[in-house]
This record gives sequence, structure tokens and C-alpha cells, in this order.
Amino acid sequence: MQSTRLKTVQDAFSEQYGDAPQMVVRAPGRVNLIGEHTDYNEGFVFPVAIDREMLVAASVNGSDKVQAFSLDYAEVDSFDLNDIKHNDDHSSWSNYLRGVVDTLQKAGYKIGGFNAVLSGNVPQGAGLSSSAAFEVAVATVCNAFFDLGISGKDIALLSQKAENQFIGVQCGIMDQFISALGEEDSALMIDCKTLDYKVVPLKLSTSGYSIVITNSGVRRGLVDSEYNARRQECVEGTKGLSELTGRPMNSLRDASVEDLDKHGASLPDKVLRRSRHVVSENQRVLDAVKALESGDIVRFGELMNESHESMRDDFEISCSEINTLVELSQKFKGVAGARLTGAGFGGCTVAIVANDQVDNFKEVLIPEYEKLTGRKAEVYVCSATAGAGPQ
Ligand code: GLA
Repeated sequence: MQSTRLKTVQDAFSEQYGDAPQMVVRAPGRVNLIGEHTDYNEGFVFPVAIDREMLVAASVNGSDKVQAFSLDYAEVDSFDLNDIKHNDDHSSWSNYLRGVVDTLQKAGYKIGGFNAVLSGNVPQGAGLSSSAAFEVAVATVCNAFFDLGISGKDIALLSQKAENQFIGVQCGIMDQFISALGEEDSALMIDCKTLDYKVVPLKLSTSGYSIVITNSGVRRGLVDSEYNARRQECVEGTKGLSELTGRPMNSLRDASVEDLDKHGASLPDKVLRRSRHVVSENQRVLDAVKALESGDIVRFGELMNESHESMRDDFEISCSEINTLVELSQKFKGVAGARLTGAGFGGCTVAIVANDQVDNFKEVLIPEYEKLTGRKAEVYVCSATAGAGPQ
């Protein structure tokens, strides 16, 4: 994290409340290397916590009130801990704050009043989990101030619950999990069925490759309705395959490639394609982790490319701008693989690029993309950071 950002948040806190903050917590955004729309199907994901984050400077205030100032929106909010309501007069940030505090209280945790200043540099609406970073940062502040003893996994689950129930977005567990539990210079292979995970070192400084995120500049428009539609189609796939195989299934995690080969033709075409994405994507995550562990970056990249194809054609969550970015990236010298990352319908791509080609990648890709789409892309070369914690 840049120390200037830390200082800005600390100074803003002192100005707002007349004293230095007792604590500053950081929670990162994420980029998912492979394993998309598998988390809510009890499958595998492989995300990385990145060096874009939410910062919350805070002090307890000894009252029953939370007072907050968003540096990014230049807005204040305050609410009573005994009466937390949805706030429709503010930008969405205040509902993320209220949602997490409310969810913790409803789970039986005792929270006291606090003052906070919040600021983030995870691009919003870009598929890099700015909202999960926000939620996890607030939950981490409460955990530390009020000695709640909540584990990292439970911070993730409670933050997801806030997003599902208070905000009303039916996301899976991936984003909050990696923001809470990410590890430096590593990706996490998370089994979203058991919530067991494996830390896989990326060795970015010695591998010769960088993780390069490109923001298409297309905000994820349809994401809420389309996300819920995909979830529903996956439920239909599970139901159909349970009946066709005679094996009761809880989720698409329980289906195999052989099940689809044998019975897929009896499913409605759309349901078959959605199911095929999830089942094959789970296998790709397992294969990708193996490839990375054996230092086979070429195979890792191929799996990323296959993942993109599957998202584009079977799961249908890409869009023309993202496809353009991915095609340009994949053709580029020194690129092992590239794909859409996150929920889809806009947002970002992720590519694995040889270090000595990164500058070239930026210089050529940005104008090419603009020529083809009329949009300005932003490129972030990111490092893999630790999950949430006090600074
Ligand atoms: C969003 C959701 C995640 C996950 C991804 C798609 O980021 O919040 O839970 O489903 O989309 O992989």
C-alpha cells in the first residue's frame, strides 16, 4: 500500500474528529486467475488479493453511534447501533457500512460506537471486488476494536451475508474470502464447498511473469439480473442431472464431465451450456493449480484461455469489448494467457505477461483497444498481497 494513501486517511480522520485514529485497517480487492461462477456452485476458485484496497481509519467513541466520513464521496453518515436502517439518501457506501455492522450485531456480536474515515482505490463496478473489500475492512475494524474473536473465514461469511441480505446481491463467497484471507505473493485455491483452501505461491518476483489487469472501461451493467439468472440456470442443471443420472446432487460440483457427455443432450441447450461451463471450469482450476505448482506457466495460460472461451460461449457472461481485449492480449508476445475476470458483463481482464513485455503490452494494447472500441482501457500491473488486517 502507498504510504501516502495511509497518511491521507489518517490526516482526514484527525481533521474530521480532532484526534489521530486508534487504528487503520486495510482490506484488499481481488483478481480471480481462474474459476469463474463456480463459487456458488460449491466449486473451486483461484483468486489473488491485490494491491488495491479499502482503508478504514477508526477510533472507538464510547457512544451507541457510528459516525463515518467517506473521503471518496465527501459524504458523512451516522447511525444509531440500536436502530440500523437501510439508507437511501447516500451513495451506496453507507449501506455497506450499515450492513456489516447490522449483520455482526444480528449474529450476536456486541459492537460499540466508533468514528471512521473510509477511502478505497479499488475501481468500482470493474469486477475487482471493491464492495467485498469495503465489507471485510469494516468487519475487521469491529473484530479488532470489540475483541469479537471472529476467524478470517467467519469475517468472510459474515461480510458475504451482509452483501446477500442487507445489500441484496446474491454473490458467492470468493471475494470476501480472498479479501479476508489472502496471502502475500500467493493465490488461494478455495474449495467453496468445504471452505478449505490451499495457499499456492506465485513467486512473482522470480517467475519472470506479472499479473496484468486491464479495465475495459465498461461498467458491469446487467450484472445483477444476469448473475441471478445464471445462478438459477445452474440450479436447473443440478436438478436435471440429478434426475438423469439417478444420483441426487446438491450442486454442479457433484456432476462430472462424463455425466454431461452421457446425459447432457437431454438437458435444455442453455442449461447444458451453463452446466458445462461450471463442470469444466472446476476441472480447469484443479489443472491450473497443478500447472502452476510444477512451474508450467504455458499450460496455466492455456487453461486461462480455455476458461475465457467457456465463459464467452457457454456461460455467456462476456461482452464485445472484453472479447476484444482478450483477443488482443492473447495474440501479444509474452502473454501466457488472458481471460475475463469477475462476474462479467464488462469489468476487467486478467493476463499473465512476461515481465520484459509488460511495458510494450501497455503501449500497444491501450491504443489498439481504443481504435477498435472507442474506449480507454486502464492497465494495472498488480502484486499479490496479504488479506485484511490493521496497518
Ligand atoms: C462476483 C461474485 C463472486 C463470484 C464471481 C464470479 O464477483 O461476487 O461470488 O461468483 O462474481 O466468479
